[in-house]
Amino acid sequence: MSMNLGPLFEPFEVKSLKLANRVAMAPMTRNFSPGNVPNDDVVAYYKRRAEGGVGLIITEGTTVNHPAANGYENVPFFHGEKALAGWKKVVDAVHEAGGKIFPQLWHVGAVRKEGMEPDPSVPGYAPSGMNRPGKVVCKVMTKEDIQDVVRAFADAAADAKAIGFDGVEVHGAHGYLIDQFFWEGTNQRDDEYGGSMANRQRFAIEIIKAIREKVGPDFPIMLRFSQWKMQDYDAKLCQTPEELEAFLKPLADAGVDIFHASTRRFWEPEFEGSNLNLAGWVKKLTGLPTMSVGSVGLTEDFIAGTFASKKEAVEDAGIDELIERMNNDEFDLIAVGRALLQDPEWLVKVKEGRADDVEPFRKASLGELY
Ligand SMILES: Cc1cc2nc3c(=O)[nH]c(=O)nc-3n(C[C@H](O)[C@H](O)[C@H](O)COP(=O)(O)O)c2cc1C
Repeated sequence: MSMNLGPLFEPFEVKSLKLANRVAMAPMTRNFSPGNVPNDDVVAYYKRRAEGGVGLIITEGTTVNHPAANGYENVPFFHGEKALAGWKKVVDAVHEAGGKIFPQLWHVGAVRKEGMEPDPSVPGYAPSGMNRPGKVVCKVMTKEDIQDVVRAFADAAADAKAIGFDGVEVHGAHGYLIDQFFWEGTNQRDDEYGGSMANRQRFAIEIIKAIREKVGPDFPIMLRFSQWKMQDYDAKLCQTPEELEAFLKPLADAGVDIFHASTRRFWEPEFEGSNLNLAGWVKKLTGLPTMSVGSVGLTEDFIAGTFASKKEAVEDAGIDELIERMNNDEFDLIAVGRALLQDPEWLVKVKEGRADDVEPFRKASLGELY
């Protein structure tokens, strides 16, 4: 393990957000909010990570106020008095522990199946009714549906600001609704929301602009996006740096302050001919603050598990390479998921050189982690 952890522990500022260090907790769905309300256990869970010293917590995906936003049981909502009161307790606890926190605002799109909470009769909604290319499984969104969801994201961001969150992350990654619009595989519309990338990203741009309108100029908006989809790890929205630049610029112009480039392994080069990872390219192309993510602090065993296809070779996820990339100014912030899920004190232990004390992540233990 590197002795020079310098870049991890430098402060970072963007707009009204002042972070004590460069490490964020990645958003991780937990299904531990019965009645879709974050309860005191949820408060304690986030508080523990804030006490463990992470600069920023990004909450688990929390759903905006649309009948089809939710896709899983016991996921916390981000609307309604009870759920927002629960989130306010989370915010206050994290702030008391010296941390900062963004909610991850989420609509699952076609991942939703009938039978799901809150109204089992509501199907999934998606740009072309597809969760995977070519197979219509749910409702094709009308323009009115699109505007309803845009408004729901904006309202959620306004509520986030009102109850004291430090910014918002919009979940535009991994094959959920916003990404279903981005990805031509699941967006086969022939109106202004489909076709070219400029059209496919119109939905996200409208969401970002509507949020900005509600939260004002200083409240940070982060957009999480990914090339990979749950439905297809090898999918790519952008095949070249030129395509990536064309994708990012209108989103930045719409009001994105931080791009969170979701990759499964932070050390993997994104395009041939350069060692830069996806976040590195985003920073190079936009100049905006950028967050990377993917298998930080994991041992080989579980890199090969969740988020890996079996045929892929497993490489070293050492922290040295992370430090080197941050020293090179490749990206500004790093999100850590499973390592922090397993061990709330992960960052303290890394800082104190007690890597041997870190509890290794076991996929089997996911349900037991608080
Ligand atoms: C249990 C679990 C739940 C997750 N839920 C979400 C989620 O709600 N939203 C999201 O954007 N990513 C989610 N992810 C992906 C993580 O945010 C992260 O990108 C991924 O785990 C890779 O980071 P890591 O290797 O540090 O764990 C989840 C990952 C795990 C393991």
